[in-house]
Amino acid sequence: MENQLSNLEKIDIETFQNDLISWFKNEQRDLPWRKDQDPYKVWVSEIMLQQTRVDTVIPYFNRFLEWFPTLDDLAEAEEEKVLKAWEGLGYYSRVRNLQSAVKEVREKYNGVVPNNPQDISSLKGVGPYTAGAILSIAYGVPEPAVDGNVMRVLARILSIWEDIAKPSTRKVFEQAVRLMISKEDPSSFNQALMELGALVCTPTSPSCLLCPVREHCQGFYEGIQNELPIKTKKVKQKQVQMAAFFLTNQEGKVLIHKRSSVGLLANLWEFPNVEIDFPLQNERRQLAGLSEDTLGVIIESFKRMGQIQHVFSHLIWNIDAYTGTVSAFPKEEQDWKLVTIEELEDYAFPVPYQKMKKLYLDRNY
Ligand code: ADE
Repeated sequence: MENQLSNLEKIDIETFQNDLISWFKNEQRDLPWRKDQDPYKVWVSEIMLQQTRVDTVIPYFNRFLEWFPTLDDLAEAEEEKVLKAWEGLGYYSRVRNLQSAVKEVREKYNGVVPNNPQDISSLKGVGPYTAGAILSIAYGVPEPAVDGNVMRVLARILSIWEDIAKPSTRKVFEQAVRLMISKEDPSSFNQALMELGALVCTPTSPSCLLCPVREHCQGFYEGIQNELPIKTKKVKQKQVQMAAFFLTNQEGKVLIHKRSSVGLLANLWEFPNVEIDFPLQNERRQLAGLSEDTLGVIIESFKRMGQIQHVFSHLIWNIDAYTGTVSAFPKEEQDWKLVTIEELEDYAFPVPYQKMKKLYLDRNY
């Protein structure tokens, strides 16, 4: 650890903090979660911002707080509505964990988000990054909040050549932040590192000439800022071939299915679908067979609407989307429903199935 952080000795920490924080105070973006320090709002924003861009998060954050303005509102909300609020953001376990965790805060901590590392880290979905972000931003506690962006910024400033894709590397950067963070204003310090990563010290072609801490930056000094951080490639996603069916009955109602409560996209809704082996020969007959055997529906006529691809972190879905009419439906069960096109709005569908609905509504045959 010491060796990896040896460049810290070359930095005058107090000047570094001042340069970084004054820049942040002047240049920070006006973002909705920066209006106040309510720990609940900081928490919601930090969970949304994981794996999701700021521009995407803004409207979701505003609507989420309209629907669930306080921690109590979220704790008491129907899961269906909570998933609907997250529809399209992806990584849905984030919001299921968030709701479990706010329930725990209500029961165990009287509705007050804990302000110390031990208690806050014990909450579901609150890892070291989220814990540090909430503690520093909402409570002014000098804890590190190290995500991929912060690692990139610090890898350049301190010329750290550890692989940031390796989970154990985060600790090196946390130690660096512990040694560098402003004790007077940990909130601005952590947010300034994030802001610098977003606005200046970007992944490709960082704007070093605009950088407020260029004079402290070992990477810039050595001219190797573009080579850092070291990040090994993740494994390639597995390809999955699927057929999915937008099926209507004589009344024009659509058949939908609720996914299992565990695993990928848990508890979200979908159109009936099956995984298929490719290449598919005698497509119609096989699909008819599949739909009858696997889904329990008899499709009277069907048409191909198009293909949808959806990339997850570990999987790629290639969905052949069909529409068809059916007379017989699976037996009435809680996780199968027949709904009107308008009622589809009330259910949370992952993005590939939203695209499929659009294909159906836009079709011109
Ligand atoms: N990315 C993660 N947390 C953030 C925050 N609080 N502001 C802007 N971008 C962020």
